[in-house]
Amino acid sequence: MTTSKLGQELIKEVDRRRTFAIISHPDAGKTTLTEKLLLFGGAIRLAGTVKGRKANKHATSDWMEIEKQRGISVTSSVMQFDYKGHRVNILDTPGHQDFSEDTYRTLTAADSAVMLIDSAKGVEAQTKKLFQVCRQRGIPIFTFINKLDREGQNPFDLLEELEQVLGIRSHPMNWPIGSGKQFCGVYDRKKVRVELFKGDDHEEISLQEVSGYEDETVKQIAGPYLYEQLCEDLELLDVAGDPLDMEKVLAGELTPVFFGSAINNFGVQTFLENFLSMAPKPEPRQSQAGKIEPTKENFSGFVFKIQANMNPAHRDRVAFLRVCSGKFERGMSVKHVRAGKEIKLSQPQQFLAQDRDIVEVAYPGDIIGLFDPGIFRIGDSLSQGTEIVFDELPTFSPELFSKVTVKNALKHKQYQKGLDQLTEEGTIQVFKTIGFEDTLLGVVGQLQFEVFEYRMRAEYGVEVQLQRMNFQFARWLVAENVDPGKFRINSQLVKDKKDNYVVLFENEYALRNAMEKFPEAQFLDVAP
Ligand code: G4P
Repeated sequence: MTTSKLGQELIKEVDRRRTFAIISHPDAGKTTLTEKLLLFGGAIRLAGTVKGRKANKHATSDWMEIEKQRGISVTSSVMQFDYKGHRVNILDTPGHQDFSEDTYRTLTAADSAVMLIDSAKGVEAQTKKLFQVCRQRGIPIFTFINKLDREGQNPFDLLEELEQVLGIRSHPMNWPIGSGKQFCGVYDRKKVRVELFKGDDHEEISLQEVSGYEDETVKQIAGPYLYEQLCEDLELLDVAGDPLDMEKVLAGELTPVFFGSAINNFGVQTFLENFLSMAPKPEPRQSQAGKIEPTKENFSGFVFKIQANMNPAHRDRVAFLRVCSGKFERGMSVKHVRAGKEIKLSQPQQFLAQDRDIVEVAYPGDIIGLFDPGIFRIGDSLSQGTEIVFDELPTFSPELFSKVTVKNALKHKQYQKGLDQLTEEGTIQVFKTIGFEDTLLGVVGQLQFEVFEYRMRAEYGVEVQLQRMNFQFARWLVAENVDPGKFRINSQLVKDKKDNYVVLFENEYALRNAMEKFPEAQFLDVAP
């Protein structure tokens, strides 16, 4: 069978693409690492640019007042660059825990993840949550252990933590020689060489080929004490460590581990090159009609995130679409499957570092930003030719709840419109109590409440009042004969947007109690 010209183009473009997200706890060094990666790709010229973006750029967007006040990065975007023939898409995930719902969704658009860990702090709370989402999807995870220039934990303890806390086995690709003040480099197990940490700014890359870790040269570099330690460690890894099994890596069961120091640009290039050679290209995506191959000629994609008012001058929304198959071309007409109509994609944007450019073409793995006049929802599928519906994106169980009321009853109509639109974006879930029909909001992080209040005021002119409730989690109830009266103690029965029954609980004890009382009922983490 001969492949058409487009078919060949798709094979080539898919093959060279790598789309990934960096997952980490705030302060582990994600901004720093991202910046160094972009520097290698020539996407930015000056160090400090991404940092600047974090600190200043969004100060121009006034709905991000909150971001400024709290000094955190709320917006997540996409960065694209080329490196040695590869086209790399980094999905930037906001690190602050308040935006984890958003972050979770972004992970659904990635083909692999880079888990960044602070060598002193080990696996932290946010990393753990994000890791679990990657785990559920079974995507490969590559680990970068950062800040080796500082005193950190013993590397074996860190690997042990990966296994104990996250349940993933690891294969160190390199191994640190000393740490903190004594840190003098890493031994590259695959390339059999030492990468030296030296020079005033440590930015010059100095490689020393050796015959193995027992080489005299290694001893000279490390000094007798560190050399002995290194040999002991590596011998132990050779004998008892997991070998690099690519099948397990691709199944997300084994994580290749790299040690380095992002701020010193140490170990970053080696990491990038290894990562690009090992990480998967865009994979087929599951749809209702089976798997869709990326090289299928008809274009398809899905919306994984909607961001409002990125440009405050235009009250626009941007829908982020992950291309899953075929070739995207500006101005093409596609089917918006849920809405049942053809739409023209005329002003798509692509994200390169901090500039938003108009995109002419895009291939599977790429992310494009579509101008959204309010027609898209998270999870929407767009396709050319046959209708394709990609599997629904998961929803995440809210952990914080508030009762919402409108201060001025005359504004009820605007309030309802704002409530509908903002909850449709997907980061806030809405519930109604049984009987009184009170409206409750459920979110993953406190900041989402603040953003909700702010946007209701700024975009819909409505002052709302939020009253925090004591509930800590929600469980979707699957049972026959549901009796609201049975959920009164430390719990409450409500309905979600689709009229499913949901029970809100104040604590684990209340949940256990309910489970004992209703052994035949199911209490699900997410909507059935
Ligand atoms: P984040 O995006 O994950 O939140 O982390 P970010 O890159 O902003 O880094 C958090 C802090 O850690 C920054 O210091 C950064 O300079 C530092 N850092 C990142 N990588 C390394 C590393 O390899 N070694 C050491 N020693 N520090 C590192 P800061 O004081 O908060 O900011 P700044 O004043 O340096 O800008």
